[in-house]
Amino acid sequence: MKKQRLLVIGGGSTYTLGMVMSLIEEKKNFPLKSITFYDTNAERQESIAKATEVILREKYPELEEFNYTTNKAEAYQNVDFAFVQIRTGGLEMREKDEQIPLKYGAVGQETCGPGGMAYGLRSIGDMIEIINELRQYSPDAWILNYTNPAAIVAEALRREFPNDHKILNICDMPAAIMVSYAKILGKEIWDLVPEYFGLNHFGWFTNIYDKDGQSVMEDIKSAILNDGFLPEDSEIVNDPSWIKTFKQVETMLRDFPDYLPNTYLQYYLYPSQMVEKEDQNNTRARQVINGREKRVITQCETIIREQSTENAHLEVDIHGCYMIRVAASLAYNRHDTFIVIVENNGIISNLQDDAMVEVPAALTSQGPKPFAVGEIPTFQKGLIEGQLAYEKLVVDGWYEKDYNKLLQALTLNRTVVDAPRARQILDELIISNQRYWPAFKTKQLV
Ligand code: G6P
Ligand code: MN
Repeated sequence: MKKQRLLVIGGGSTYTLGMVMSLIEEKKNFPLKSITFYDTNAERQESIAKATEVILREKYPELEEFNYTTNKAEAYQNVDFAFVQIRTGGLEMREKDEQIPLKYGAVGQETCGPGGMAYGLRSIGDMIEIINELRQYSPDAWILNYTNPAAIVAEALRREFPNDHKILNICDMPAAIMVSYAKILGKEIWDLVPEYFGLNHFGWFTNIYDKDGQSVMEDIKSAILNDGFLPEDSEIVNDPSWIKTFKQVETMLRDFPDYLPNTYLQYYLYPSQMVEKEDQNNTRARQVINGREKRVITQCETIIREQSTENAHLEVDIHGCYMIRVAASLAYNRHDTFIVIVENNGIISNLQDDAMVEVPAALTSQGPKPFAVGEIPTFQKGLIEGQLAYEKLVVDGWYEKDYNKLLQALTLNRTVVDAPRARQILDELIISNQRYWPAFKTKQLV
């Protein structure tokens, strides 16, 4: 097996230590020659990298090279795989994205509704720049992108790089949900094969099979209806916010029993409830700053001080493992099935071809080979088409610098609906994103 040279863009992310642990766990499936971290924030990356050096010395002595840098030219050379996980504006801007819509009674969420739009309009430019520059140095590298909001980023990259077939957008949410299904069934996630359709953070499992090809869908549904549903992945198992989110799956299943929903549908199907339970002074961003971020900082300090991982409580998580297994299937032509984001082109036969959809695909060295979904029912189709129009309008708005497109997008979005409210939120987001967004023009009325 050829050993891979891996570049992690966003080395200073709070997810990086979990990724490193996952690379160690998966070293047989995805053997590495080198790991390089790249970040624009030297300080943030340095403590993660210094801790990573200790972890790798202990647990991955056969790795030939580990580097970290803020120099693009150094980082972008000789890459086989680039994992991209950037957050333009950081958690500080995430907090604003969540607080501003809430002020006007709309859902305040990282990737859904106005917050997702705001984050998308910050991410697009940076993502395009990263890919253009990476391609100058490593034209053949696989680029696996986790950067959010994945739906909007994927649509922008589809338009910007129509002929680049080695960019793949992925989200770990379906996998994190499948970890809970696996737990219910007493199996491992890798033993389950999903049937799924939708957009990113906006989809449904229509079936789940075990290794023998038997459907286990009814077992999962009845377990959820009888016993509820909880997160099981190590990263979220004890997190009160994720526990609440997973519990909502039972409600969604009672109201709409045909399929098993992605957890993110709660924001679109129960927006009023979601707004009611939020506290503007302690939105998810604040919880992450006080929770995961502090935990990772402490872990790094402990590891660096003790030059050992013994007291750091490091864990493997699905976020990392999923990305790595995806990479392995692409690298070694394994044809394993993963849920990924690809251009529709008839996969969902009653949806436009140029939609970026989230569906299962066999991942080969030639890229994803998605499985046909066929026609989807009216309810899901209606929801998807509204959401898709919102996503497309956001990306149109970015390319055309068009305020009115953004106003249309937010008015269409199920988390906003009301045009005056859409305008108020948009105007406040423009102010808070001045440093990151292009200047948007409004239509001149005569
Ligand atoms: C899941 C989603 C990601 C999202 C993350 C937020 O993993 O798939 O797209 O960024 O949750 O989690 P957090 O704990 O930061 O709210
Ligand atoms: Mn996601």
